[in-house]
Amino acid sequence: MSAESLGSVGSARTAVVWSVLGAELARRGAGQLDIVDVGGGTGGFAVPLAERGHTVTVVDPSPDALATLGRRALAAGVAARIRAVQGDSDTLLDVVGAASADLVLGHSVLEVVEDPARTLTGLAAVLRPTGALSLLVANRAAAVLARALGGHLADAQRALHDPDGRWGDADGAARRFDADRLLDLVTAVGLRVEGLHGVRVVGDLVPGSVADSSGDALRTLELALSAMPPYRDIASQLHVLARRM
Ligand SMILES: C[S@@+](CC[C@H](N)C(=O)[O-])C[C@H]1O[C@@H](n2cnc3c(N)ncnc32)[C@H](O)[C@@H]1O
Repeated sequence: MSAESLGSVGSARTAVVWSVLGAELARRGAGQLDIVDVGGGTGGFAVPLAERGHTVTVVDPSPDALATLGRRALAAGVAARIRAVQGDSDTLLDVVGAASADLVLGHSVLEVVEDPARTLTGLAAVLRPTGALSLLVANRAAAVLARALGGHLADAQRALHDPDGRWGDADGAARRFDADRLLDLVTAVGLRVEGLHGVRVVGDLVPGSVADSSGDALRTLELALSAMPPYRDIASQLHVLARRM
């Protein structure tokens, strides 16, 4: 398994996450890993990971998402390596057990749970020693800039000061994070942060027609910008890789 082989999975939207995951899997060597994907939904990450030989347990409260996951896993020929469990972040330990996973994914889920600190405690507890957490969350800074650039200056001001980074009642997002707060939450549960990347630094800013016709150029640019402040800091999402020691 090479970092490149996973780095090529998916579009420019997810290239940075796959690149970080690819490096983590390469670091682990050739063995089959036990992976838990909390809020894994329809299997956008679980299926490609299972295709590379790993076993993935997806824990998600949505029966519809899990049904779609089941169909995708069958179509990809990896149903035997994916376990779909209806549950949520608060019941995680009952479902998968403590210290049972080499890699835990928490992608786009910390925004919607009741208590992000409690959820992170559960995600950390599921990791084996030296196991890694891959966390992906919405970034407040991107919402502030997006509302301002769209001419919604009062919304931008609200998103800047709201405790959850929301710009108003019509905001479809339940919560966004600042990088500092995110890193504090992760270290508070005893994990060591090894990487912080910006996901979709420019992908949501360029016109759709440019994104569609960019070939590999957008993906290459996203990868180049993802670890570099100040570009990283305005990305639509923030990705953290953290390790249990
Ligand atoms: C935006 S989707 C993200 C799906 C997937 N992780 C991805 O990145 O493509 C959020 C998922 O979180 C699930 N979810 C909502 N509340 C949850 C909770 N308390 N615990 C675990 N998953 C939850 C939803 O059912 C949904 O599948």
